[in-house]
Amino acid sequence: MPMVAVSGKGVIKDYNSFRAVDNIDFEIFKGECYGFLGPNGAGKTSVMRMIHCFMLPTAGEIKVFGLDVTKEPSRIKSRLGVMPQEDNLDVDLSVLENLIVYARYFDIPKKISRPHAMQLLELIGLNDKANVNITKLSGGMKRRLLLARALINNPELLILDEPTVGLDPHSRHLVWESLKKLKSKGMTLILTTHYMEEAQMICDHVAIMDSGKIIVIDTPANLMKIYGGNLEDVYLKLTGRHLES
Ligand SMILES: Nc1ncnc2c1ncn2[C@@H]1O[C@H](COP(=O)(O)OP(=O)(O)O)[C@@H](O)[C@H]1O
Ligand SMILES: [Mg+2]
Repeated sequence: MPMVAVSGKGVIKDYNSFRAVDNIDFEIFKGECYGFLGPNGAGKTSVMRMIHCFMLPTAGEIKVFGLDVTKEPSRIKSRLGVMPQEDNLDVDLSVLENLIVYARYFDIPKKISRPHAMQLLELIGLNDKANVNITKLSGGMKRRLLLARALINNPELLILDEPTVGLDPHSRHLVWESLKKLKSKGMTLILTTHYMEEAQMICDHVAIMDSGKIIVIDTPANLMKIYGGNLEDVYLKLTGRHLES
């Protein structure tokens, strides 16, 4: 039996009277890459934020490494890395400094974080930019740096909210290659995406979402076998809507 890394039962998120996540159940195994798919507004970011203890579920239960997000957020947060949907890098700092300063939140001293940060910059192909100011980076470079920053505390679980949104095909492939390497080392990955090619290539399981609900959970291969066509066709058949919006 595979070990469960993250589970959700009856998870609900309301923003005032608006239900953004509507009673969802999911189970994510250790070492797999799990994707939440759906168009803008489906509720993907809300699910990610509850998993990484940024906000509480309105109802239901989420457990990460067997720990309840409402009871042990600090213990959970120390073991995971988050690549957010939006760029929140510190524009006053260089590429390398961004990583070293972020490491302080995990109480990692500079003599450890500095060499580790250099290794991470190599992983994402930005080692020649270590001393460059953030404002000099392209959009693709910033996304890759956000990925490196998410890895600074050696997380067991990596949460990636639209990791390749807006990236050119070259940068997108670089990110995919990095994610595959991390998965091959045993890291658990949870990502959101509305790029079907991405989900098909790197996800072991996908949860297809629409309007806060999970419509189906399966492997990309099974979904394509059952519904025919590629994942985009599957989505269209299940919801009557196109994904990329
Ligand atoms: N902080 C918030 N306050 C009010 N509504 C929100 C907030 N965050 C998200 N929403 C709404 O909840 C729904 C789901 O949003 P989100 O989780 O960001 O979806 P996705 O990441 O799939 O685009 C959207 O309709 C969005 O407008
Ligand atoms: Mg989102």
